[in-house]
Amino acid sequence: MDTPQTLDDVRADIARRLVDAASDRSNSMHVPVVGTADGDMRIMVLRDYDPETRTLRFHTDARSPKVATIEADPAMGVLFYDKAAKVQIRCRGRGRIERTGAIADAAWAAGTNFAKRCYLAPQAPSSASEEPTSNLPSEYENAEPDDAAVKAGRENFSVLLIELERIDWLHLAHSGHRRAVFDGDAGHWVAP
Ligand SMILES: Cc1cc2nc3c(=O)[nH]c(=O)nc-3n(C[C@H](O)[C@H](O)[C@H](O)COP(=O)(O)O)c2cc1C
Repeated sequence: MDTPQTLDDVRADIARRLVDAASDRSNSMHVPVVGTADGDMRIMVLRDYDPETRTLRFHTDARSPKVATIEADPAMGVLFYDKAAKVQIRCRGRGRIERTGAIADAAWAAGTNFAKRCYLAPQAPSSASEEPTSNLPSEYENAEPDDAAVKAGRENFSVLLIELERIDWLHLAHSGHRRAVFDGDAGHWVAP
């Protein structure tokens, strides 16, 4: 890509990349690294980005250890990289978990039964197991549950919303790298 020349161009590039990443499974930014305040990291699927509020949305099992970590300390990092475009987007923000409410309800309603199947897991994620396990009910290991069956998964489903406070954008180019940092609306160029 041609490197953006103005901070407004960079703002637009960030918004476009994150919006596209949420809707396109083949986009490498669709599966960023999500870090929690305890220093742990994991890959998660980006479900939505709202450039107006600079909020990322992810889905997770409310019983998973990261949920308790985020509720104890909401400081979070999210790291995106598009290898072909040579763009890194490195974010810091505050996470919040919503198990109920309009956002969680809409996100659950929009999911396929295949996606909802994960939330039927009998054991909490990260539970120790004596044997290798999918942690799926055996009847759904190779089958998609129907509408009635997936309902039981709703109580384990939650959304993770991360409101971004700082976005560090880096573009690698032979002609010279470019880097800009945004604290909320305020942006400035920095040495790469
Ligand atoms: C490609 C990929 C996508 C993933 N997407 C999600 C996701 O959307 N939500 C999620 O909770 N875990 C997702 N995971 C699993 C997490 O990386 C992690 O292993 C799991 O959530 C347990 O994390 P925790 O122990 O920090 O709770 C994904 C893993 C991979 C490899």
